[in-house]
Amino acid sequence: MRTRAAIIRGTGQDWEVVDIEVDDPKVGEVIVEWKAAGLCHSDEHMITGDMVPPEEAWEMLGIDSMWPLIGGHEGAGVVAAVGPGVTSVAVGDHVSASFVPSCGRCRYCSTGRQNLCDAGGGTFRKGMITDETSRHRLEDGTELNMLAKLGTFAHHTCVAESQVIKVDDDLPLEAVALVSCGVATGFGSATERGNVQPGDTVVVVGIGGIGMNAVQGAKIAGARHVIAIDPIEFKREQAMEFGATHTFSSMEEAFPQVQEMTWGHMADKVILTPGVLYGDMMALGTGLAGKGGTIVVTGVAPITQTESSVNLFELAMWNKEIKGTIFGSLNPRADIPRLLSMYREGQLKLDELITKTYSLDEINVGYQAMRDGENIRGVILHG
Ligand SMILES: NC(=O)c1ccc[n+]([C@@H]2O[C@H](COP(=O)([O-])OP(=O)(O)OC[C@H]3O[C@@H](n4cnc5c(N)ncnc54)[C@H](O)[C@@H]3O)[C@@H](O)[C@H]2O)c1
Ligand SMILES: [Zn+2]
Ligand SMILES: [Zn+2]
Repeated sequence: MRTRAAIIRGTGQDWEVVDIEVDDPKVGEVIVEWKAAGLCHSDEHMITGDMVPPEEAWEMLGIDSMWPLIGGHEGAGVVAAVGPGVTSVAVGDHVSASFVPSCGRCRYCSTGRQNLCDAGGGTFRKGMITDETSRHRLEDGTELNMLAKLGTFAHHTCVAESQVIKVDDDLPLEAVALVSCGVATGFGSATERGNVQPGDTVVVVGIGGIGMNAVQGAKIAGARHVIAIDPIEFKREQAMEFGATHTFSSMEEAFPQVQEMTWGHMADKVILTPGVLYGDMMALGTGLAGKGGTIVVTGVAPITQTESSVNLFELAMWNKEIKGTIFGSLNPRADIPRLLSMYREGQLKLDELITKTYSLDEINVGYQAMRDGENIRGVILHG
């Protein structure tokens, strides 16, 4: 079939909306008509190159070519066709994307860690996760890669069954789209990976689509102090609506205040969700945590960054721990429906996360707004 997609042909370029060809789904694959797609910062890392391995390493990593690439990994839509052997969804079902697949059988899925599924979403190679061949082409025949093997910045893509999760038909698909990455990642960073407990002091650094959900996750988990840090005033104002108790414009500004409000104990949990997590942010990032504190690293660092400014003496003597997380360490198949049921009951704010919606043709306007800090989340409505 022929459809439209926002692609990039390499780093440093704008999104380009073009016609593409999508093949029929093969075994274990489905075609999704995407209805809504969130403008997550992770797609932006492809443009800046922060998430692109340096070309001199491609051969060693077994990468032939990453470009051109259909963007988008946060999304929700309707199943338009199913390939042979597909059993968990049928044509017409409403589905959430899952940028991490969940095969259900690998050692990670079978031990409740679907976010680490061996089927891997990946973006570094072209080809489907099912059989490594391509289903998407430009009009001149050039094969297309897809971000996280989803490509939600297209009206339609062909994806693996393991990357779609059936959701209730009455839920607004833009709300479902947000849960598929930003909400789950932020909420899980606080509640699951950070294991926020009632009475904790929690600091969240970087209040975008991810950090705002770490704020609401910490609040729902019963944190005593939820301290939101962002240089942009609009983000700080919004954070108060989502459950923050205090806001500061920088970690430097927050440090003495956190000391004072905790009688010198500092935070129990620090969740790091800035747009780009540079290594030199770790000195204060870890310094804001007190004895026995946990620091959760959710924000993506430039891929080649290997140095960070952690005080290792304090890490050992104060018995702190630094934890990475993908997808907030949640299980997409269980937790996407769980978060949506909390939304249905009015416990989780989703509609309020959407600052502005865009058509696919307006995608570059939407990403500029993200860079300028104007949106909690911008969302593409495919129409
Ligand atoms: N680990 C995962 O599974 C996962 C999943 C999705 C996104 N991410 C990453 O999470 C990060 C956040 O994504 P997003 O979509 O929320 O981005 P965003 O651009 O919407 O928000 C980032 C926020 O960080 C703020 N910020 C930047 N530098 C800061 C600093 N030094 N101190 C305090 N605040 C700062 C910005 O003002 C902005 O409000 C990105 O790196 C993204 O790639 C990780
Ligand atoms: Zn994302
Ligand atoms: Zn698996």
